[in-house]
Formats: sequence, structure tokens, C-alpha cells
Amino acid sequence: MLTPLRELARDARTRRVGLGAFNVIHLEHATAFADAAAATGLPVVFQISENAVKYHGALAPLCLATLAIARDCPAPTAVHLDHAEDVDLIREAVDLGITSVMYDGSKLPDAENRAATRAVVELCHAAGVDVEAELGEVGGKNGVHDPSARTDPADAAAFVADTGVDLLAVAVGSSHAMTTRDARLDEGLIRAIAAAVDVPLVLHGSSGVSDAGMRGAIAAGMTKINVSTHLNKVFTGAVRDALGADPALVDSRAWLRPARAAVAAEVARLLRLYGEPS
Ligand code: G3H
Ligand code: ZN
Repeated sequence: MLTPLRELARDARTRRVGLGAFNVIHLEHATAFADAAAATGLPVVFQISENAVKYHGALAPLCLATLAIARDCPAPTAVHLDHAEDVDLIREAVDLGITSVMYDGSKLPDAENRAATRAVVELCHAAGVDVEAELGEVGGKNGVHDPSARTDPADAAAFVADTGVDLLAVAVGSSHAMTTRDARLDEGLIRAIAAAVDVPLVLHGSSGVSDAGMRGAIAAGMTKINVSTHLNKVFTGAVRDALGADPALVDSRAWLRPARAAVAAEVARLLRLYGEPS
């Protein structure tokens, strides 16, 4: 059932648990995440990135299908536009019925990022849509692995007050698109930011963080946990196994089915890991 992201994240923050947010790239991702949410009864955030929209050439087909799957899911769900830099795409997502968006102005100079984020918040809140924004660019989004970026706690508090965002993505040592799980997060900094701001915090680039690192981050005050690359590894590994095991396979369902099942099992495991109270 569709639920505002603000509510899911506030509830998770109060209970000091993590809220899993996973990227939908193909329809099989959305069905796998719904399978995992139904199996665990835990909330899940389906997110569609601007990059995925570019891949498909349009937002509506994947977004409307994901909304339909999320609505039908027995567990609480949100459908979120991820890393959107294009405000027209945000308007389109709002019109399609998405429940939240991440406006990514992290490449802009600070004053411009604040002004643009404030404008997106006004546009989205008028339609009842929640907004996540980022302060202190998370490393690696464009292939540059720079886990040294850090968000300053006082700056984070001022940014939230200036812009009115509902969730804040922060830079605390993670880096996008890692295929190993050995990133070291700065838990002291997470604690300091969580104490300074009154909105739930978001960790991007969570694929690079181990299970133990994630438990530590959630205990320190991290709430929304964004994972994509790790699940792509699981998906592609299962496809590779299925095709390797039977070179005569022709029906695409025969190799997509095990990929969907493998992703659903890993997402269920992650949801339980994040949902364990600290
Ligand atoms: O916004 C999405 C996430 O930050 C995913 O990052 O692919 O490194 O897990 P990841
Ligand atoms: Zn991200």
C-alpha cells in the first residue's frame, strides 16, 4: 500500500531502524522488491533514478508499472524519483502520482543548490509529495570514487531549515557504484549530523557497506538506506548462472525468473538486517 515516504522514514527514525530503498531498473526489480516486502511485512521504497529514465527513454512506463506494483503490495511502500537534476522530470513524476522525489543539486554552487531545492520543495509540497535533497556530494556518482566527501553537521541543520526538505542525504564515507563492501563510514559524524538535524538521514552508495557497517550506521542514526549496485550484482550473477547452466535456453523468463528470485531473497535479507532495532 502506498504510504508517504516522510511517514515511513519518520517512523523508522523514531524506532532507530533502517528503511530499505532499492533502485528499479527493470520491471523484474520492482516485482522482486514487492515479493521481499510481502515476505517480510516490512516497508520498502522503490526508487527510479533519472539515469534509469534516460535508459528507458521515458519515465511514465516504468513509473506507472512500479506504482501499480507498490499499490498492490501488502506492506507499506513508497515510490521515489531518485537523483533527479531535471525539474521538468520532477513535475512529470508528481503528475504521475509518485510519492516522493530526490532533488540532486549537489553539483551546483551552494547558494544555487539551496534556492533550487527550496523551489522544488514548494512545487512538491503543494502536491503532497515529499522531498529528499543532498548536501556534501556523495563520492562516485560519475565514476570518480571519492569517499572523502563529508557533510558538516551545522551546515546540514542550516540547509534543512533553509530549504524545508523532508529527508537529507549526507556524505559520511560511502561512494556510489562500489562492487566491494569495504567502505568505512564515519559513525561519529553520522551521530553528530543526526543530533543536529530533525529530519531522517539518507545513505547513498550503500552497496559498498558491509552488513556490520550498515548496522553501525543505523545505530548511529542513519535511516533511509539506498542500495542499487549490490542488487545488480545479484541479478546479473543469477542470469549468468542460468545461461551458463543451459546454453540452449531461449525463453527469457527462464533466466529472468531465477534473477528475480535471487534479488527478492537478498532484499528480504537486507530488510530484516535494517529492520532489527538498534
Ligand atoms: O541513489 C541510489 C544509491 O545511492 C545507490 O548506490 O549503487 O552504490 O548502491 P549504489
Ligand atoms: Zn545515490
